[in-house]
Amino acid sequence: MTPPMTAVYNPMDLSGRLMLVTGASAGIGRATAVMLSRLGARVLLNGRDAGRLEETAGLLAGKGHAAAPFDLSDLEAVPGWVKAQAAAYGPLHGIAHCAGIQTLRPIRIFSAAFFDEVMRANLGSALALARGLRQKGCHAERAAIALISSTAATAASPGNVVYAASKGGIIAATKGLAVELLGDGIRVNCVVPSIVETELIERGKQKLTAEQYEHLRTLQPLGFGHPDDIAHMIAYLLADTSRWMTGSIVTVDGGRTA
Ligand SMILES: NC(=O)c1ccc[n+]([C@@H]2O[C@H](COP(=O)([O-])OP(=O)(O)OC[C@H]3O[C@@H](n4cnc5c(N)ncnc54)[C@H](OP(=O)(O)O)[C@@H]3O)[C@@H](O)[C@H]2O)c1
Repeated sequence: MTPPMTAVYNPMDLSGRLMLVTGASAGIGRATAVMLSRLGARVLLNGRDAGRLEETAGLLAGKGHAAAPFDLSDLEAVPGWVKAQAAAYGPLHGIAHCAGIQTLRPIRIFSAAFFDEVMRANLGSALALARGLRQKGCHAERAAIALISSTAATAASPGNVVYAASKGGIIAATKGLAVELLGDGIRVNCVVPSIVETELIERGKQKLTAEQYEHLRTLQPLGFGHPDDIAHMIAYLLADTSRWMTGSIVTVDGGRTA
């Protein structure tokens, strides 16, 4: 319905909606939680570090938010955990899946344990959350999932191929899930960021020389991103602004792949 001309029109208004944000204890997830709360949503904050989730809670606008610490690498337990959140707080209108790990590691020291760790945290968690959300009573009539891939998946990322493969899997999963969850009223889209200055990048920086780090900066004509640059797109993908989008892969990369 078109609002009266006198009302402030915000097509990204999330008033009355409940959003789960994973990775909310840091970086892009924290910025996304703040952004969604400023748009009116109630936010469930997930990460493993309860103390840092409380810090994020202190930054949120509005009321009715809650922290829900949980390790999303425990894939078998994720659907039951989602069900418990819906029972406690109500059906979810969306999930911003921002949790993820990245450890730079050349293929010469590849191990099965490292593969399992990265794949479970980055890709398995997304699939398990999708399974969790589609359960009866866990989602509102119309809901959305926003996943995060990486330009590591769409442009060569030497020394980082296990992470890149997990993020390539996110792109494939976005498309498959979008079609599989159509009947449940759940849209699924994905953001593909290049380098955003967060703790994740700060940790990787320790393994690089100053020259190598500056080279990374030059890969993005618009420079490194800020967590809000990704949070804005995630909010768009969870709000009605994207009601005609599902299975879309949206690049937000400072011109990296232009
Ligand atoms: N920063 C970038 O340049 C960049 C670029 C492309 C894509 N991305 C992707 O964007 C997402 C967010 O990245 P970021 O830079 O914000 O990372 P970050 O600052 O390192 O934060 C990662 C978040 O993930 C959570 N997390 C990790 N493993 C988890 C698990 N098993 N269960 C629950 N929570 C878990 C962490 O919380 P706890 O420590 O409390 O568990 C933390 O809140 C990731 O998927 C990343 O791959 C980032």
